[in-house]
This record gives sequence, C-alpha cells and structure tokens, in this order.
Amino acid sequence: MIAVAIDGPAGAGKSTVARRAAKILGFVYVDTGALYRAIGLYMINHGIAPVNREAVCAALSNVSVSLDFQDGEQKVFLCGSDVTPEIRAEEVSNAASAVSAIPEVRQFLFSMQRTLAAERNVVMDGRDIGTVVLPNAQVKIFLTASPEERAQRRYRELLQKGKKAEYSEVLKDMIQRDYHDSHREVAPLVPAKDSVQIDTSGNTLEQSINRVVNVIRSGL
Ligand code: C5P
Repeated sequence: MIAVAIDGPAGAGKSTVARRAAKILGFVYVDTGALYRAIGLYMINHGIAPVNREAVCAALSNVSVSLDFQDGEQKVFLCGSDVTPEIRAEEVSNAASAVSAIPEVRQFLFSMQRTLAAERNVVMDGRDIGTVVLPNAQVKIFLTASPEERAQRRYRELLQKGKKAEYSEVLKDMIQRDYHDSHREVAPLVPAKDSVQIDTSGNTLEQSINRVVNVIRSGL
C-alpha cells in the first residue's frame, strides 16, 4: 500500500489540495480532522465540556466513529449517524481543537487511522500524520502558507458564508491557534524531518495542486 501524509496548519489549503491530489492519483483521501471533529460533536451533543479530560475520557467508551469512502467522498459516522455536514460548524471546530489535545483521544483514533492506511492507497491529511500516525509513509508533505495569507483565505470564507468577521481578529486567532497547535504536549504540529515543505503563499489552488502532485509522483 502507498501512503502520502500531508500535514500543516489550518488554512493552508490542505484539505482541498489533498482531496484533488488523491483524485488525480486514484488514491483515497482521508481527512483525519473529521475524526476529531466527530468526537468534539459527541461531547457537545452530550453536554460534556471538551476541555474536561476526565469527562471526555469517561465518555470515549460510548463513542463509535467510522469513515465511509463510497463515491470517492469521505462520510463520517458518529454512533451510526451520518454527521458529515454537522461537523463543519464553528462550534465543532473549537470542540475538536480541545479534544485533540487530550492524549487518550489521540490514542483512541490512532489505530483506526493506521488501519485505514493499511487497507488502501491513501492521501491522509492532518497535523501528525507524517510524524506519529504514518511515520513510514512513502511521501510526506508539510503544506503551509504565511499566517496573513491563511487568515485572508479564512476571512473570505467567513464572508462568503454570510458571517461577520474582522480580518485583524481572524489573523490574531490564526496566530494564536498556530502557537497552540505547535506547542501542545501531544503530537504537536511540526514538520516531519523527512517531509518536503511546500509554502503555497501567492500560489493559486491549481498551482498548489500541481506542486503537490509533482512532489508525490517524484517520491513514489
Ligand atoms: O483539520 P481540521 O480543522 O478539520 O481539524 C480539526 C481539529 O483537529 C484541529 O483543531 C486540529 O488541531 C485537530 N487535528 C489533530 N490531528 C489531526 C487532525 C486534526 O489534532 N491529525
């Protein structure tokens, strides 16, 4: 099996680039952030504070999360229900961020991610895929862009969704989240030593996809 790991900070265009690259290569795209989001959603639905490690851990034994890849699109199931659209809510992003800092949650999802990659050729995106989940991936990419560019993309996305937003606030949040993600104790966001770093600042989406596909092809 072939595994391509794509890690990087929020807003670098990872998921779009990884999804399109997987399609071009005929691999399955696995978005691991969706797994953390599903656990975050479970905690919200059950009135459990996602920062409460003890309560989250106690609830984990009742959680079942699975992914389905029919029609080439990933669907996320939480305790048997399709929660694919629901996990994109802003409230769920925050809950996902909180639960992802809990070691037991990471452990809970670890073997599932490994199994997914053992059964099919994957392009897997996340924060710790090249460093922790798939350290033997044939190709590792660390995809990033300047905080200003990532904040600009996020800001435009929010406006498109009809939400009110201030660019300066979005940038401040982005810088804070970067700091938090790269300094957390478990699985911090750092480039794997053997990863190829790609900075997409100033690139169009098509240019970023081309660069990523070229790196993958030359690494296989
Ligand atoms: O990528 P996405 O925004 O969907 O990820 C949701 C949350 O899950 C983020 O806060 C991110 O830090 C966390 N995450 C993680 N490890 C991964 C994927 C996502 O900690 N492999």
